[in-house]
Amino acid sequence: MRTPIIAGNWKMYKTLPESVDFVRELAPRLASFSGVERVVCPTFVALAAVAEALKGTPVKVGAQNVHWEAQGAFTSQIAPTMLQGLVEYVIIGHSEARAYLHETDEDINRKVKAALAYGLKPILAVGESLVQNEAGETEQFVGGQVRAALDGISAENMANIVIAYEPIWAIGTGKNASGELANSIIGGTIRGTLTQLYGSSVAQSVRIQYGGSVKPGNMAEYMGQPDIDGALVGGASLKVEDFAQLVEAAAKAKGV
Ligand code: PGA
Repeated sequence: MRTPIIAGNWKMYKTLPESVDFVRELAPRLASFSGVERVVCPTFVALAAVAEALKGTPVKVGAQNVHWEAQGAFTSQIAPTMLQGLVEYVIIGHSEARAYLHETDEDINRKVKAALAYGLKPILAVGESLVQNEAGETEQFVGGQVRAALDGISAENMANIVIAYEPIWAIGTGKNASGELANSIIGGTIRGTLTQLYGSSVAQSVRIQYGGSVKPGNMAEYMGQPDIDGALVGGASLKVEDFAQLVEAAAKAKGV
């Protein structure tokens, strides 16, 4: 049984004091859903304070990106060594980082390797653009992203990786993919690619989230799908009540 995982990607929202206040309110609201893994991914500047505020609670912390080098002359970047002890998870390959920071599949593969080498668990984000979707290229493109990101990653390491399928056209747009469509890409394309790479038992054990305009109102539609193991959530993770409802919906739908 794959433990559902809901991660809030706060993007460039919430100052340090806002982040701390938020998690102080959020943690008790999420206390009773122990069958669901709950993660918040604040901005870098708030990570230490949020990690401190969440000590002793079941809510885990993730970062939104990481560099592949352990240290060095990389102005503005954050090394995996700097995240050790602060976070359990790190989002890698988010479409906004691919688009605005020009991260390539090769960069993302290096980041996944570096994160794993330093004991951080990647939440690897993949997903196609609207143009690719409309051209019928989703399966080929997403399968290619998965292969490229996981190049050289061992089967054993797959236990420490979460994949998030986030169609770019659904992120922050309110145009969410249907539960059925998301399930078919996750179950068919992504698990299919993992089966080719690692065999079916690994493919069946990796947790795969959906992301893109997930809200309390559509969460049950995703969590009712057999291959979807949770959600990577932007906008709706910025409100305590919405976040709590997402976790509650996952617990209910998965019977945990
Ligand atoms: P959204 O963002 O929930 O606001 O669509 C999801 C994401 O970018 O991870």
